[in-house]
Amino acid sequence: MNTEIKKELDKIKPVQKIKEAVESSEELSVQIEYIGKCQEYIMDLKNRLGRPLYACINTFGCQMNARDSEKLLGILKEIGFVETDDETKADFVLYNTCTVRENANLRVYGRLGQLRGLKRKKPHMLIALCGCMMQEPEVVEKIKKSYRFVDIVFGTFNIYELAQLIYERITTNKQVVDIRQDTNEIVENLPVERKFPFKSGVNIMYGCDKFCTYCIVPYVRGREKSREPKEIVREIEHLVADGVKEVMLLGQNVNSYGKGLDDDVTFANLLAEIDKIEGLERIRFMTPYPSDFGDDVIEVCSKSTKICNHFHMPVQSGSTRLLKKMNRRYTKEEYLSLIDRIRAKLPNVSFTTDIIVGFPGETEEDFLETLDVVRKANYDSAYTFIYSKRTGTPAAKFEEQVPEDVVKDRFNRLLEVVDEVCHKNSKRFEGQTARVLVEGLDDHEEGMVTGRMTNNILVHFKGDASLIGSLVDVKLVECKGFYYMGELV
Ligand code: 5AD
Ligand code: SF4
Repeated sequence: MNTEIKKELDKIKPVQKIKEAVESSEELSVQIEYIGKCQEYIMDLKNRLGRPLYACINTFGCQMNARDSEKLLGILKEIGFVETDDETKADFVLYNTCTVRENANLRVYGRLGQLRGLKRKKPHMLIALCGCMMQEPEVVEKIKKSYRFVDIVFGTFNIYELAQLIYERITTNKQVVDIRQDTNEIVENLPVERKFPFKSGVNIMYGCDKFCTYCIVPYVRGREKSREPKEIVREIEHLVADGVKEVMLLGQNVNSYGKGLDDDVTFANLLAEIDKIEGLERIRFMTPYPSDFGDDVIEVCSKSTKICNHFHMPVQSGSTRLLKKMNRRYTKEEYLSLIDRIRAKLPNVSFTTDIIVGFPGETEEDFLETLDVVRKANYDSAYTFIYSKRTGTPAAKFEEQVPEDVVKDRFNRLLEVVDEVCHKNSKRFEGQTARVLVEGLDDHEEGMVTGRMTNNILVHFKGDASLIGSLVDVKLVECKGFYYMGELV
């Protein structure tokens, strides 16, 4: 490294001191300083190589991770990297990992093997891993031991420190591993690179306190922490000024919003405040927890013209007996009556859900209850998962794991019922005209664009790139299962 740059880098506060910083604003300025130092390093490297430096982020998992990746890309671009989705071209590769189910972990290890080959040809290349999987101690041990070529490893609590971690790596030339167990700090307002100019996720809270017995999220994302309502509103106002029409409020369990804040504020209050933001056209949120979905939230939704007609309402199982073992705090009947209560106030609403098949101890009767809920709740679509044993969760120790062939058979039967029910339901809008936010060019057919109705169903219709980001009226000509073919009106 250029000695001038090294001297500059050395002037930065010692790392230990930074870790003790508690004020978000203080931490923010520290990180901005690191971004500046990394900029100089990247500039130097660019000059030496005589070409731009490319960064590639691969995101696994949920909307939370997608939003985190936008923040990480914001920092990388600020440092001077150019975005690429071609890993083979990248000088910096970052995997933002998920660990909700085991197969996501296996995919990461598989791909790391390929990265090793790329790095051999390009020694200056940096490889970084972050996200939920890195919060598991066994994973980190394995990377330290068997994947020494990985340069930087960090978790879910310190993504805002990316520039600092890069700095540590380039100045110490050692593998940098920085995993926290939890944090009281919420650092926002660093540069963010949005994937879509017209829509954005907005974190309203982090973590989860529910401890469903199958789920690793509370262990890897920590306890619930809500952001201040005024911070959230300010962020959305800025987004709207920057062209955003739709926001997705993100939290593992959005109905718990407000717990632990000094002001007495609920999710319903927050929605009402966001609803007032001028210029904002659509509000979505995920994920609500069924038994915390209060009448106050239903009331705000029914009065609002911006809150979308779609709720993702994970049921997980239709069997009250199994729900209890899952530590879900509702019965089958309570869940279905909530769906009815919402439909009574919002007749056009669409519901989607998550379902787990093969939870330990699931009997044929339990499974039939799940099929019954799918039929009665009339979902528009459902994400179906085979139970995956996650070490450290209570369910991993439950006896009576269901044999693989039984699970596969139930999974296939569930898919059949989901297809039948969801297709029939989605079809109910055929012939109607719907307001659609155009999201992009159609992946499959030239001359076509794809947009989303308020109830989250996709519509494909004739159009060009000039429509992207606008709200248009589209006639829903034909339902093709989970999506529509339409015509601009
Ligand atoms: N096995 C299978 N599916 C799981 N989910 C969470 N944990 C597990 C697990 N151990 C599913 C739930 C949740 C969704 C995000 O992932 O359905 O709602
Ligand atoms: Fe996991 Fe349950 Fe929290 Fe959802 S609510 S993140 S399923 S523990």
